[in-house]
Amino acid sequence: MHGMTDEKDGHPHSGIDYLSELPQARPHIHETRKFPDGFLWGSATSSHQVEGNNSNNDWWDWEKAPGHILDGTLSGRACEQYERYEEDFDIAKSLHQNAHRLSIEWSRIEPEEGKWDMDEVVHYRRVLEALKARGMSVMLTAWHFTLPKWFAAKGGWESGDAIRAFERYVSFLAAEYGDIVDHWITMNEPMVYLVQSYGAGVWPPGVRSPIRNIHVFSKLCLSHKAAYRAIHRVLDGRTGADGKPVPVMVGISQNVITFEPYRKQSVVDGVFVWFADKMFNRQFFIWTWGAHDFIGINYYFHYRIKYVPRKITQLFYEVHTENREVSDLGWEINTAGIFDAIISMSRYRLPIIITEHGVANGDDGKRPRIIVAALKEVYHAILSGVDIRGYFHWSLIDNFEWEKGYSGRFGLVAIDYLTMKRTPRRSAYVYADICKANGIPHSLLRFMGHGVRW
Ligand code: BGC
Repeated sequence: MHGMTDEKDGHPHSGIDYLSELPQARPHIHETRKFPDGFLWGSATSSHQVEGNNSNNDWWDWEKAPGHILDGTLSGRACEQYERYEEDFDIAKSLHQNAHRLSIEWSRIEPEEGKWDMDEVVHYRRVLEALKARGMSVMLTAWHFTLPKWFAAKGGWESGDAIRAFERYVSFLAAEYGDIVDHWITMNEPMVYLVQSYGAGVWPPGVRSPIRNIHVFSKLCLSHKAAYRAIHRVLDGRTGADGKPVPVMVGISQNVITFEPYRKQSVVDGVFVWFADKMFNRQFFIWTWGAHDFIGINYYFHYRIKYVPRKITQLFYEVHTENREVSDLGWEINTAGIFDAIISMSRYRLPIIITEHGVANGDDGKRPRIIVAALKEVYHAILSGVDIRGYFHWSLIDNFEWEKGYSGRFGLVAIDYLTMKRTPRRSAYVYADICKANGIPHSLLRFMGHGVRW
């Protein structure tokens, strides 16, 4: 049967009717690529990046020092979400999102060691209830990079007391908000924190020391484990209104980088990639094994790595993009990589949630395509058998992008920082179509350049 010619286009073809032989293919041709029922469609933020006036944490003074924030901006009033959260949640709801990820600002809840600010505790209850009132599932991050000043002054994660202090804080959150939170993230991207704060030294406390880096790594692992156990201790055994046990889901958000050897023929590039993948993506899970109910993946980076022994400054490697498509921040856009990240992390045989994925793209020329392309990869990963429960786009609104200041615009919704006006971008509506359909409408795939059959 080989070598036949298609009557319509004259192209040689094998004569095999692929579509009838692939059980999944036929029903999908023109239909929405459906995601599993109950899939979480949301977006994510973090307290310091959106709330404003978080003057009691370690970033507030750090930002003021010359050179620390590349564009010279300060978090300041940020997006005023502390006051405008209902407006933002209304927007998310109107965009058909059924879930939201946000963080609690530790320095507000516990402004002094061991003292809880009950006004702030009530404030966050209102915030979380506002999500529930809109029928949205709540994913709560306990620690997203910022530390209370008192904790930083004691030495931050290096302090002898750090694990106990974090456990006390997280237990308090579990007791206060356990009835309202669906997924707990104890910490966001511990490995990124280590690289930025104790490797490159560009985030507070601005340390560059391999020894202290390793010390903090061990403290973060132990702190996560303590927090994981604490949340389960407080919440296990609860039952819902129907009398059935409510599952307690606790994890972390891990920034997963897809590393690729630059020279495929080079053994040394390959070995280095294996090492980088293990150290950056997997080491934390190895050391905290047994303390995860799901794996949270944040996907942004694809690194083509060339091992360069003499370049100590870059940890012996260079990353190459060679004029590929990049975001406004110069990060290579490689949406197909999210599939590889998922497959790699599926080795742990736990449910996976994409807790962040997004792109800095102020004019929104790329974001719609990037969302569709990445979700198509997530769809393929689901078809391949991986238990993926949700996708949270970073971010709902533009916000304070750490050492990059306000120039990195990640929002589905644009913020005018003078008026604080929120304006959904085109990508927000593209994503809304997907959330509403619980899948990727075929028309969107066609629009993004896919053939009718694929
Ligand atoms: C972090 C966010 C950050 C985003 C974009 C993630 O690494 O969790 O806080 O804004 O990436 O850089």
